[in-house]
Amino acid sequence: MKIKRIAINTGGGDAPGLNAVIRAIVLAATQRGWECVGIRDGYNGLLMPEHYPDGGLMPLTPDTVRGITHLGGTILGTTNRGNPLSYPVLGEDGQYHEIDRSDELLDAFADNKLDALVAIGGDGSLGIAGALANKGLRVVGVPKTIDNDLDKTVATFGFNSAVYFATECIDRLHTTAASHQRIMVVEVMGRYAGWIALNSGVAGTADAILLPEIPYDITKVAEKVQSRTAHGRDFSIVVVAEGARPIGGDVTIIGKAVGQAERLGGVGHKVGAALEALTGKETRVVVLGHLLRGGKPTAYDRLLSLRFGAAAVRALAEGVTGIMVALDPPTVNYVPLAEVAGRMKQVPLDCDTMLTGRDLGINFGD
Ligand code: F6P
Repeated sequence: MKIKRIAINTGGGDAPGLNAVIRAIVLAATQRGWECVGIRDGYNGLLMPEHYPDGGLMPLTPDTVRGITHLGGTILGTTNRGNPLSYPVLGEDGQYHEIDRSDELLDAFADNKLDALVAIGGDGSLGIAGALANKGLRVVGVPKTIDNDLDKTVATFGFNSAVYFATECIDRLHTTAASHQRIMVVEVMGRYAGWIALNSGVAGTADAILLPEIPYDITKVAEKVQSRTAHGRDFSIVVVAEGARPIGGDVTIIGKAVGQAERLGGVGHKVGAALEALTGKETRVVVLGHLLRGGKPTAYDRLLSLRFGAAAVRALAEGVTGIMVALDPPTVNYVPLAEVAGRMKQVPLDCDTMLTGRDLGINFGD
């Protein structure tokens, strides 16, 4: 069946570059004579259209996507609690129950004459996209996450922008740390993978970097701080991924809402308090959190996003479905969604950036 009208959605946490992907899809699709609509807030625009003044679908034309390449966030809105496969619904017992609404969703695609979907998201969203593809929907996924933890693509868009900003923050903290002879602990995002902490920490010349991949021994970090003090370097910068945990311990959790993954956060304060106690040095903690997700994409992320968006449309035009576009330099390839979902790309402990960090004398809590 020839494509006439496609849908685009953005799911999970936002990331710089989402709007650039949307723009590229709309321009490339329009050139092929296809109509585009954006589903508001993940799949909610289709699952609860009555909540939206425009019925949950945003018409997307070259005019509506003009001037958005450099804008952070997503003009479509997003959510990380609208999984159609396990949608939280309040039952008569006052409890939330998760139900599968995917068939209803597919009906909504048909009712709205949507011939295909470009789903822009991370692991969770691409898993949903794969399930919808298995049920017969024409779907192409686009890999997004600032955490860079998706397998089968060399990079996700959003990651470079997050690393760029985190590095800028670490640079700024250096001067104040040195002036006050303090330890500065910087907590960055990174649930299961420490790519942001590693890359910004090495680029920003941190003294210690704690990653989810290496359970840490805080006494090793304290020794590093003390050795610096002994050598006349009276301050230290410690970068901590939110998913870091001590040896034999667990990740630090803020809480959990219905239909969402656990919210991580707080490990920076734990590390800061422990270092202050062990070293006697005044310590301050800065949590970068969602600042890493906001703001405009770097030139690298804009280009990657535009390439991904255009490649997604080419894939649909070629009749390809059930795939994710993936960066495989120098090209953008297609990989089956089934090979992506549920596979976490963690930092390999022997990768070159890790080796570089160790050669520079950075402590990894081990
Ligand atoms: O997956 C991206 C991410 O930024 C994680 O690093 C972080 O744990 C999570 O999103 C936070 O999500 P929320 O916006 O729900 O706080």
